[in-house]
Amino acid sequence: MTFYEEVGGHETFDRIVKVFYREVADDPVLRPMYPEEDLGPAADRLRWFFEQYWGGPSTYQEKRGHPRLRMRHVAFHVNPDARDRWLTHMRTALDEAQLSPMHDAIFWEYVDRAAHALVNTFEPTPAIGPDPQQRPDLGLSH
Ligand code: HEM
Repeated sequence: MTFYEEVGGHETFDRIVKVFYREVADDPVLRPMYPEEDLGPAADRLRWFFEQYWGGPSTYQEKRGHPRLRMRHVAFHVNPDARDRWLTHMRTALDEAQLSPMHDAIFWEYVDRAAHALVNTFEPTPAIGPDPQQRPDLGLSH
């Protein structure tokens, strides 16, 4: 059995990713980073990736090619704050999914390590952007 099958297959990954993006939708730092109005397509891409990574269908490869995650994140401002927010929302999603302690630990260890590896800047989150209304006030404007 693959990890994908052990945790309940597509339904489980669908649930994890849905909860994750439900949290992202309310995050004032992460939400403006997602280029599309609708988070559904981004949720699909993350789910395809996880499903493939854990031994499920290789839809990600078919639709997106090689993951090259670090390269694909270069366009985004992934500082430690963004990383910690991302991980907080993934933690919420995993808590709601209620995997076995062993599966939870394996999943978490991977995303925690990957998120740390994807940090590409230590500059603070820019206070200006496409939607300034949604940005937190970091006291950066003078
Ligand atoms: C560290 C904090 C992270 C931030 C702020 C972040 C942010 C983003 C953003 C803004 C996108 C573009 C959304 C889209 O249109 O698809 C994206 C895409 C993606 N992210 Fe992340 N991400 C983070 C960590 C991770 C981690 C840890 C993984 C996997 C282990 C991951 C996997 C992906 C995948 C698979 C895509 C879609 C790539 C594609 O095919 O275009 N991300 N991420």
